Amino acid sequence: MELKATSVSKRFMRKSGEANYFEAVRPCDMCLRGGEVTVLMGRSGSGKTTLMTMLAGLLTPSTGNVKLDGRDIYALSDRELSFIRASRFAVLPQGTGAIGSLTAMENILLPVSLAGKNADADLKKRISFLMEALGISQIENAFPKELSGGELRRMAIVRALCLSPDFIFADEPTGDLDDENTRTVLSLLKDEATRGAAVMMVSHEQEAARFADRLFYMNAGELSLRQ
Ligand SMILES: Nc1ncnc2c1ncn2[C@@H]1O[C@H](COP(=O)(O)OP(=O)(O)OP(=O)(O)O)[C@@H](O)[C@H]1O
Ligand SMILES: [Mg+2]
Repeated sequence: MELKATSVSKRFMRKSGEANYFEAVRPCDMCLRGGEVTVLMGRSGSGKTTLMTMLAGLLTPSTGNVKLDGRDIYALSDRELSFIRASRFAVLPQGTGAIGSLTAMENILLPVSLAGKNADADLKKRISFLMEALGISQIENAFPKELSGGELRRMAIVRALCLSPDFIFADEPTGDLDDENTRTVLSLLKDEATRGAAVMMVSHEQEAARFADRLFYMNAGELSLRQ
């Protein structure tokens, strides 16, 4: 099981209407494999989210390709790519991506219905375990506007991990968490890799670097391997 990006780059237009492009990500290679945690570090604005989004099937690269077990995901139909994303990928976006009109539990269960699955007893048990581990069992029926930033972040983590996806893309998952919750989140992500998932995490935490099987660094759109 591997997701392989080859020579991917992303150009954005700086000013609309003018031929003024800049390369947010310069051509680079990255391969995510089952069982491994890949950590991406680097300064704000260096292109980390852009690269992760291209790997996650959410942003078409300007050059290069992203292949899932040999198949170019951007050559698939919308329907096929959506199916793969719903059944095998989980994205934990920067920010929380909560839907305001749904309760915390309804937000958590959203990808379950998108994947065409039912919330069976095993899944409910898994959700309870994750909510307990992250100390948010009590927020189940609360609406996003009633929750703190850190609680929303932890809710988004439960949502991303509950279906045991093959690929997990976590963009600064511990950004607004205290030390104890940070450690819990990092160890939950490590557990996912031990189970066989491929985990890609953008992080500024030195602690995350210690969890990494491979550590990359992004500097002004240029990717380099640190370990
Ligand atoms: N849709 C877009 N259109 C134009 N420019 C964009 C777009 N998305 C990102 N950029 C620019 O690309 C650069 C890289 O952005 P990106 O979000 O990948 O950085 P980052 O490394 O994730 O930063 P941070 O640590 O602050 O999250 C930035 O200069 C940003 O302004
Ligand atoms: Mg970012």
